[in-house]
Amino acid sequence: MEPYQSAKEEIKRAVDIVELIGQFVQLRRAGLNYIGLCPFHSEKAPSFSVSPSKQMFHCFGCKKGGDLFAFWMNYHQVSFPQAMKDLADKYHISLPERHPFHSGLGQANALETLYKLNETAAQFYQRLLTRSDKGKTGRNYFEKRGIPAQIISSYRLGYAPDEWEGLTAFLKEKKVDLEKAVQAGLIIPRKGGGYYDRFRARVLFPIITMRQQVVGFGGRVLDQSLPKYINTPETPVFRKGELFYGLHDAHNAIREKGRAVIVEGYTDVLALRKYGFHEAVATLGTALSRDHLRRLKGYANETVLVFDADAAGKAAALRSLSIFLDEGMSCRVMVLPENEDPDSFVNKSGLKPFLESLDHAAPMFDFYLDLRMAGAEGRIERQVQVVQDMSPLLLGLRNHVQRALYIRRLSEKLGIAESWVLAELSKASRVSSTRERVDNRSDEGLVNFPSRTADDRLLLHLFVHYPQVIEQFAQRNLRVLLSDAAVLQIFDLMLDAFHKEGRLAPERILERLDGETAGDLLREAIMESSIYRRDEVDQALKEFEDKVHRLRIAKSKQKALGNVEEANKIPKLIKKRWG
Ligand code: UTP
Ligand code: MN
Repeated sequence: MEPYQSAKEEIKRAVDIVELIGQFVQLRRAGLNYIGLCPFHSEKAPSFSVSPSKQMFHCFGCKKGGDLFAFWMNYHQVSFPQAMKDLADKYHISLPERHPFHSGLGQANALETLYKLNETAAQFYQRLLTRSDKGKTGRNYFEKRGIPAQIISSYRLGYAPDEWEGLTAFLKEKKVDLEKAVQAGLIIPRKGGGYYDRFRARVLFPIITMRQQVVGFGGRVLDQSLPKYINTPETPVFRKGELFYGLHDAHNAIREKGRAVIVEGYTDVLALRKYGFHEAVATLGTALSRDHLRRLKGYANETVLVFDADAAGKAAALRSLSIFLDEGMSCRVMVLPENEDPDSFVNKSGLKPFLESLDHAAPMFDFYLDLRMAGAEGRIERQVQVVQDMSPLLLGLRNHVQRALYIRRLSEKLGIAESWVLAELSKASRVSSTRERVDNRSDEGLVNFPSRTADDRLLLHLFVHYPQVIEQFAQRNLRVLLSDAAVLQIFDLMLDAFHKEGRLAPERILERLDGETAGDLLREAIMESSIYRRDEVDQALKEFEDKVHRLRIAKSKQKALGNVEEANKIPKLIKKRWG
């Protein structure tokens, strides 16, 4: 076996896929498999399935799936060699020195180049902050903000000097392809040729992923000038809409507590961390998105949003309610006193009052309701409007108990009988039912296999779960029943493997399939529980055989119209089959 292959096998032997994926997705046992909410597309009910016996995962919604390498590559957006290296490091598996990927990393793919450049820049800025004369301004700034050395080091904070070509010159010296550094968002081309630094005279907050990779930076001015922060622009590795600041440090605590606390700013994360609070992460100056929640879903059962008391903060909290409901993530909202953010609050009052407020944070629904109800007391039109506005949200709740409780809460707040709220809801549900159907269809990222006949699907199940039938199937010339190209390809490969090896593990065929459709289809059939019970297999085969005969007879009949010779065959065909 070539070393590449043997290293791969060794990692597969050492790492259990359920344990690995369980670190990123909350899984629960369901029969032979584990299921959870898919991290690759938006969904409320779990269609993501992991099989311990097959060491495979598959999402029945978006059809992503494969082995543990496929998971790592998809989840972290890395190449196969990088996934091997990551997993080997993570599980302390030593790989042969002269292993192909050691050299393979040299010509790493485009994403890895971006990671590397960000890492180089982070080291440059870090060194400047901590060890150079130029960095003194930055050091003073962090000191003034009360950020201790230990946090400066674990969050890899840095300083960009007040120069047009600080990083640019450094990268040039390192013989870095500067166009790549432009792609990484680190430097900017000048109109007349040449490049200049994006970040100048700012303290820098590197954004670090859970894989401890720097993917971008936020940079803050040291004075009152504007803009206060600039961030790395969107790049293939820096997608603000799904990244959190601080997750590289917070994820273990979040998993242990089952709770994530989402704050607004970089400095808020750092201040809380300084006081020993490890569960805080921040969005990168963008609104909270579904992708954000999908990232957290694997760790946290609950999130608490901490917002400034200003109108913008509240509006942001309100906008995210439907996202939380859609993703089925429970959420509470904590509002800070006027003119405070978590940073100023804990630095003034310490952690204890913060923790107390956190414990008393209101469920998001109540928070929403209270805000909507504010000023509506005694004003009938406004109250009616509240019920109407709440209807789509309430109707969107999948959990019926939860819905019933919220309806009760709403009617209590309004001081009317629940039955009236229910009546209004049923009116709204009639209006929305058509729209809902359309919405469901457009569920993000869902792939539907092109329709194939029921026979193709049933037979695929037979082959996958009872591979021993495959030979009988071939001997009885039943292949004509298959019409789908992907299923035919699977069948032929399975038959081939059966002839060559005398036995058959359908998973082994997966690697030999070309084309994604056939692979996805086979994986899905493997992960589904069998349509047939063992004692139904013989009967099923017999029925398929009958069907082929009926088809042959029908064909003969058609040909026989006006053809005596063919017509004479029919009784014989019938006799041969049914005696
Ligand atoms: P804030 O203005 O609340 O800043 O923005 P802050 O985090 O409290 O920072 P300090 O305490 O004044 O130093 C909250 C977040 O919004 C993003 C940043 O991510 C910031 O941390 N932001 C803010 C920007 O991206 N650009 C800006 O110009 C301002
Ligand atoms: Mn602040």
